[in-house]
Amino acid sequence: MNQSNSVALNDSSDMRYQARRGEIETYFDRTAVDAWARLTSTAPVGRVRATVRAGRDTMRATLLSWLPEDLSGLRVLDAGCGTGALAVEAARRGAHVVAIDLSPTLVNLAAERMPEDLKGRVDWHSGDMLDVKLGEFDHVVCMDSVIHYQTADAVKALATLAERTSRSIAFTIAPGNVALNAMLKIGQLFPRGDRSPSIVPTSPVELGRKLMACESFSGWNVERSQRVSSGFYKSHALELVAP
Ligand SMILES: C[S@@+](CC[C@H](N)C(=O)[O-])C[C@H]1O[C@@H](n2cnc3c(N)ncnc32)[C@H](O)[C@@H]1O
Repeated sequence: MNQSNSVALNDSSDMRYQARRGEIETYFDRTAVDAWARLTSTAPVGRVRATVRAGRDTMRATLLSWLPEDLSGLRVLDAGCGTGALAVEAARRGAHVVAIDLSPTLVNLAAERMPEDLKGRVDWHSGDMLDVKLGEFDHVVCMDSVIHYQTADAVKALATLAERTSRSIAFTIAPGNVALNAMLKIGQLFPRGDRSPSIVPTSPVELGRKLMACESFSGWNVERSQRVSSGFYKSHALELVAP
């Protein structure tokens, strides 16, 4: 596993992004690492977490279905890869995958869980998904990895990724208030000290407009949009396609 830490920070929004990033890293690398390892495994979980697991499986399948069936020769970034399930499926379909997460512990676990026959098909990194050193990509997928950032910071992060992406970016957001409460409860399923950094609710339509107004997204389109709702898991995916 490589470590990437060279993200340029220039202004107050970058400082806010960096502060939030630190909280997210602490949460996923220490506070809730065991809970995430279990949630993302096949080990038995309680009824409520089982609905979250099912929703996340559906969302992952949705995002993967938006990628070409044959990914041979294409570079895919799994941005905020967690324990790596999406990266593995993209590699199985022939992609060269770069998978990065703030949590070195989750990335190590992802590398350990990698099926023997796919070893070498995913470059695992710990660090920031915006690191320019990761290179350029055909497709970028961010599953539930920008939901903790202020909308302006999420827009900026996605615009940064767009500058390095030639075909599509698919990502998820926490949609609106009712759904937000449900998503927050996912964090509250963990013991009090293990609760997640707050999740920022966003309207998919509003966010789509904000993204399309960015220079980095000039000529891009919001192509597909899909809500997944399963128990406490409520998430909304958007696909942005390059000209
Ligand atoms: C809710 S988890 C989802 C993990 C994985 N995408 C999945 O769906 O199983 C969000 C992940 O995004 C990662 N993350 C958030 N901000 C990040 C950033 N700036 N760079 C890299 N990873 C980030 C977190 O460390 C965390 O593991």
